[in-house]
Amino acid sequence: MRVVSGIQPTGNLHLGNYLGAIRNWVKMQDEMECLYFLADLHAISMPHNPAELTANTREMAAALIACGLDINKSILFNQAQVPAHAELQWLLSGTARMGWLNRMTQFKDKSGKNREGASIALFTYPVLQAADVLLYQATHVPVGEDQKQHLELARDIAQKFNNDFGNGTDIFTLPDPIIPKATARIMSLRDGTAKMSKSDLSDMSRINLVDDADTILTKLKKAKTDAEPLPSEAAGLEGRAEATNLVGIYAAFAEESVDATLTRFGGQGFGAFKSALAELVIENFRPISERFNALKGDHEQIDAALAKGAAKARELGAPTLKATYNALGLLR
Ligand code: TRP
Repeated sequence: MRVVSGIQPTGNLHLGNYLGAIRNWVKMQDEMECLYFLADLHAISMPHNPAELTANTREMAAALIACGLDINKSILFNQAQVPAHAELQWLLSGTARMGWLNRMTQFKDKSGKNREGASIALFTYPVLQAADVLLYQATHVPVGEDQKQHLELARDIAQKFNNDFGNGTDIFTLPDPIIPKATARIMSLRDGTAKMSKSDLSDMSRINLVDDADTILTKLKKAKTDAEPLPSEAAGLEGRAEATNLVGIYAAFAEESVDATLTRFGGQGFGAFKSALAELVIENFRPISERFNALKGDHEQIDAALAKGAAKARELGAPTLKATYNALGLLR
């Protein structure tokens, strides 16, 4: 079993990023061989600022390490240091079909009304993503629900390539998605219908990885709620977006079901619940933000960590890349 997953390097990491992907990655490293990378090559598919991309790549690496990703257990790197990702993408481009890519909903969402003005990288983004996992013969790929379609495409590409060029042997392993079961979608603290986001103008809408205990307490105390007490079971949260979000955050940190959380807090007002929630979030976040704040300015250490991971990744990817060139009849 081999786990491979990537994350786009964005700045300003918050609780939503942590509970959404990072925490799961950290858990898996004790159970399986894991390769995790910063998808910096994917980041250039949208208009971007080069200096910001560099900074975000380092920041994301620091955040992952602060959250408990152990570079002696997991292989952590950024795509740009492993040229085989881009190479394999091209080699797979002969196999991926226009019709398959035309069905990708992320391209439709991100290109919006301006399809003609979208970069071709945005269109072929899923082929790079396929290369990311096929290069390492990944068996399992943890992704959010929104990436499921891209993973199916990776399987389609792998299968067609194996059929067309495998000569009876499989060049690529078909990867299975691991979609964390109902990880609560973490929403804005100011609006329970909008995702918690680094680009929200109000800093009160999110809890950042860098926030100290006082800031977390203030933000949670001021979080929007409604006037009703908490229900005693999950069904009672229907139509109450803000309550759903806060209870979801509690349950996620307590690693219990929403029903279990509500068994304890049902009937209580938000005052008491918010205090308990703040205590729980602060307790879990404090060691992370301390490590993050200490590491984020230490470029030397971060760059060394990424270089070490990249060297390992280049080694692990080399045999598959070679087999792919050979299978295609490319003379080298
Ligand atoms: N597209 C993914 C996202 O936006 C990131 C990603 C890039 C990825 N390559 C990957 C995830 C390979 C899993 C496997 O979340």
